Amino acid sequence: MLALLAPVLLLLQTALAAPVENAAAATVGKIRAVQSPIFHFYLQANPKNESIPVMGPEASAEAFTIGSTIQSTNTSQYLNILTASTSYKPLEFAAASSTTAWGLEGDTIITTTGSSYGRQLNFLACSSSTSGYYDVYLQTGSDTPSGKSCSNYQTLHLPCLC
Ligand SMILES: *[C@@H]1O[C@H](CO)[C@@H](O)[C@H](O)[C@H]1NC(C)=O
Ligand SMILES: *[C@@H]1O[C@H](CO)[C@@H](O)[C@H](O)[C@H]1NC(C)=O
Repeated sequence: MLALLAPVLLLLQTALAAPVENAAAATVGKIRAVQSPIFHFYLQANPKNESIPVMGPEASAEAFTIGSTIQSTNTSQYLNILTASTSYKPLEFAAASSTTAWGLEGDTIITTTGSSYGRQLNFLACSSSTSGYYDVYLQTGSDTPSGKSCSNYQTLHLPCLC
C-alpha cells in the first residue's frame, strides 16, 4: 500500500512546488509601447532629469528587472507610482522602491489585482517638453492633463519573453 502511494505523493509534491518557483523568478527586459504615437518607444529616464520616466528612442532604452517592483539594470532606479487625485498617476524613478504593485500578464506590464490600484494596464502618454519624448502615467480612468497633447489607453510590453 505504501509502495503504491509513494509515486503519487512525489507527483503531488512536484505539482505543488512548480508555481512557487515561477512566481519567484524575476524577468529582465526592455519595456516598450506598441501603439501610435509611441509605437516602439522605450521606457527610460528623461535625459534632462533622471527622476522622470519617459518613452523615448530604442537607442537609449534601459533594461528593467520586473517583479513586484520594476528596477532599471542601467541606473538601479526603481519605477514608482506617485499619489494623485486625478485618474492618471505620475511615475517617478527613485533610489528607493515605494511601489510593489507591478506585475506581468504575459508580456504586458500591469498593476496586480491585489494592489491598491487593482488590475490596471492602461497608461497615458503626453508629449514631453523634451522634444522626441513622451511623459508616461498610469491611467486608472479617463482624465487627461489640460493643455497637453496626450494619448490614452497605451499599454507597455516586454518585446520578447525569450
Ligand atoms: C526633476 O523632476 C522632478 C519631478 O518633476 C522635480 O521635482 C525636480 O526638481 C527635477 N529636477 C531637476 C534637476 O530639474
Ligand atoms: C541598458 O542596459 C541594457 C542591458 O545591459 C543595454 O542593452 C542598454 O544599451 C543600456 N542602455 C543604456 C542607455 O545604456
